[in-house]
Order: sequence, then C-alpha cells, then structure tokens
Amino acid sequence: MKRSIILFLITCFGYFVQAEEKQPPVLFPTPAVCVPTQGVFDLSAGVKATFKGTAARKMEKEVTGYLGQYASSDKSRKNTVAFLFDLSLGLPDEAYTMQVTPTGITVSASTASGLFYGKETLFQLACYGKGKIPACRIEDHPRLKWRGLMLDESRHFFGKEKVFQLLDQMAQLKLNVFHWHLTDEPGWRIEIKQYPKLTGIGAEGNWSDSHAAPTFYTQDEIREVVRYAADRHIMVVPEIDMPGHAIAACKAYPEVSGGGEGRWAGFTYHPCKDETYTFLSNILDEVAALFPSPYIHIGGDEVHYGNQSWYTDPQIQAFIKEHDLKNEVGLEHYFLRRMADTVQAKGKILIGWDEMVDAGISPDKAVVMWWRHDKPEQLEKALAQGYRVILTPRRPFYFDFVQHESHKIGRRWNGFNPIEQVCHFPDTLQTLLAGKEKQIMGLQMSVWTERIADGKRLDFMIFPRIAGVAEAAWTPLEVKSPEKLMKKLPFYLEYLDASGIYYFDPFQPERHAEPWGPSKADVLQNG
Ligand code: ACM
Repeated sequence: MKRSIILFLITCFGYFVQAEEKQPPVLFPTPAVCVPTQGVFDLSAGVKATFKGTAARKMEKEVTGYLGQYASSDKSRKNTVAFLFDLSLGLPDEAYTMQVTPTGITVSASTASGLFYGKETLFQLACYGKGKIPACRIEDHPRLKWRGLMLDESRHFFGKEKVFQLLDQMAQLKLNVFHWHLTDEPGWRIEIKQYPKLTGIGAEGNWSDSHAAPTFYTQDEIREVVRYAADRHIMVVPEIDMPGHAIAACKAYPEVSGGGEGRWAGFTYHPCKDETYTFLSNILDEVAALFPSPYIHIGGDEVHYGNQSWYTDPQIQAFIKEHDLKNEVGLEHYFLRRMADTVQAKGKILIGWDEMVDAGISPDKAVVMWWRHDKPEQLEKALAQGYRVILTPRRPFYFDFVQHESHKIGRRWNGFNPIEQVCHFPDTLQTLLAGKEKQIMGLQMSVWTERIADGKRLDFMIFPRIAGVAEAAWTPLEVKSPEKLMKKLPFYLEYLDASGIYYFDPFQPERHAEPWGPSKADVLQNG
C-alpha cells in the first residue's frame, strides 16, 4: 500500500477514536441523535443571528436577548446563528435539526413546534456550556406525543404565577400537556358564569382548611394561562371530575347532589336527574369555549367511594330498573356513556381515568388515562378494545409519592417513586405493550396535592423528577439511560439553584430539607 494511503487511514482512525471519546453535550431530555464533532462555538465572541420564515422571525427578540447575555463587551459578531423555518425540509411535527460548528449554528424545522424545541435546545446548550457550545449535529424528535404534567389545584390552590413558572419549566424540558385538575372534593377552582355559586360557595376551603377563603381562576385568568401555555407549545386540558369527587359542586348546588351522608355527602352528582345532565352540559359548554384543546377530561374515577346512597335512593333504584342497567355499576357506566356523547356533541374528545374502560364507550370518542398500576388488566383491556391510552400509573408517575427512603410526608405503596424509576418507565411494561405501542399517546406525571400545601413543597416534589419524565417521554428507547441521566443531573440541579427553584437533591438527600407544609401535625396525621 502506498505510504500516503496508509497515512490517510491512520489519520482517519485517529479521528474516529477521538470522536468516540468526545462527550455529547449536556441536554435534558437527551436528543434522539447527537453526534459530537470538532471544536466549540463561543457565544462570548458575539453572534449575528438570522431568522428565516414566520415562525423563526417570531423568536428573534427572545433569541437575540438570550444569547446576548453571554457576549463579552468587545463582541466582534463574527459567528452566526441561523433559525430556519422551512416546510420543504419535510421534518415532522415537533422535530428539528441543529448543526453546531465553531463558527456557526443552524437550527432548522418544518413546524413552529419543532423550531421552538430547537430554540430550547440551543438555550440549554448555552446555559450548560456557560456560553461555550460544543460542536455537534443533532437530529431530534419526540418518542411520544403526549408529554404531560397534571396539577391538582382543588386540594390546594397555587395560583397563576406558580402555574406560569411550571409551564416555563415544562417547555424547557419539551413537555407539552398541562392537565389541570380543577374540581374535586375540597374546592371548585374555575369560574362558570352560569353557576356563580360554584366559585361563590364551592371554591371555599381546601384540603388543609375547610374554611379557607375562596380561591379559583376567573375565566380571564384561565384564558391568560391557556395563552401563556400555547406560546410555549403546551396544550392545556381541563378536568371537571364527575360523577364522583363532586363535593364542592354539590355543596354549591345541592339540587344536583347524588345524596350521601357525613364524609360522603354530595360525593357524586345525581345520576338520574335530567337537571344534573343539563347542569353538567352547561358547565362543559363554558369549559369547551375556554380551552382550545380537543380534549376534555371528565374524571370518572373512584365513584364507589361515595355512592352509598345510590343503593337506597328510590328514584335511582327505579331508574336502574327502567333502563335495564342491572346495578349501580351499570348506572355509573350509563352516566359515562351519556357524558361521552355530551362531550362529543361539543366537538371534543373525552378523556377518563381507567375506570372508563368498562363503560362501553366507543374508542373513537374517548381516551383512557391508566392510573392504577396495580390493575394492569385495565391497561390491557383498554388496548384490546382499541382505546388510545395515556400512561400515568401511581408507581412511578404519581408525584405525591415520596422520592427517598428518608422522606416522611407523602405516599408509599410497596415502595416509592425515585427519579431513576421515573426515567426507566414505560420500558418496564414492554411485554404488555408489545404490538400496541401506537395506541400509547404518551406519559404524564400527576401531582396530587393533598399533602402539598405550598409552592415550596410543590417544587420539592416535582424537581428534579420532572427531568426523568422528560427523558421517559421524549428520548428514544435505544438512547435513553437512567444511569446517564443521573450522571448529568448535577447540571440540572445547578440550573435549579440558579433559578431559585427548591428541589430534592438525590445525591445529598439531607442538603434540602423536606418541607412540611403549613401544618406538620395535620400532614403527618394524614400522611
Ligand atoms: C385518581 O388518582 N383517583 C385518578
């Protein structure tokens, strides 16, 4: 072999070994493809940014402002950053590509959401590299379409500023659905113009204090949150829980109450009165007008907790016979079928908790949210019947579960929910999901707030586990690695420190104390 060819081969080999050794840049969630290349793009030299296409031009101010903070005072503006919104590239929804060389960065996408995620990636690269972005080629797209966070504001109310903060953090991690649990036993939190007592009476109290002053979102505030979320490519899906978990509504409008006594008084709506269906339909009209999302969540969970009076109410017993519903469970399913029709008539698709699987609703009208990790048969049935499914099993996706052995407040159920297990999901279900992957719309962390009474504790329960959710929902199985996530997690913790967000430190559990909430005794008693 000629000497020049041998030299060429040695050079190539050396290059590959070097490339092998290069570490990919730190990003949350890990992109689908990220190939490190040679050199570093230094933002301190100043950049000249260009924006092509409508979606790109909309970002101009934000991008130049963000990158500008890394420029030194003698910026020569010789390096370029180009944002390209180009349909002809044919990149799918939410996908983007990024090329970083020492002298230029190009972010390309064919959808506004793709370009948005490209921008978020660029901002993270700048932040974690402290202005020095390692050269690389990224081709990125999500593993799953629904990457959600559910917040329960009935048990405790946090208010719009906290929601804005959460939406910012979600967007950064490429989470795209905010499921808003707005009604439940302790309080009704959404203004409904036709039924002012829902917030006049129903919004009073919370899980810690049944006499707390009313707290709720006005319709203007709801619109503000929906807009803020849409600007970050986040869809807001409201949940109006029914026929159970309705105590706050039934306190305000006893005429639609399903009866019951003591602890369970008004836990359900009355399932046999036309008045109830009219009341709920009118509420859903206002809800449908407020939320552009194609989905409305109507709960449908845990009716048996508080429907004792269904067994004795003569009107209900007569209704069951008249409609040949067999029993109280048949009545519950009748209610859900009727609501699925009501929601469909408003041009929306119903989402329900996994109790809904047994109700006989056509799978084109509804999406199932699987939550009972101890009932995998509900997930199997949902998939067998052809439903689309969102996975939010209590283990490991309920974030009211503790995240460390030492924690005193919060749920445990044969274990708890550390970030590594969050990241590992749903691959623990591979056998069950085999052949049905297309029906899985996505994943969702659900933050129930019985034992989360303030923003500091809310942050502690969410961060940094939320980064595990992003990894589970976005990063392809072949690339995802809980071990690698834990290796780079200190960067995210440093970011949380700089942002003033309280969090649990899995590397030094005692570093940030577990916040108790307003009443330690109350929380422990019910913990
Ligand atoms: C639920 O946790 N009851 C859906």
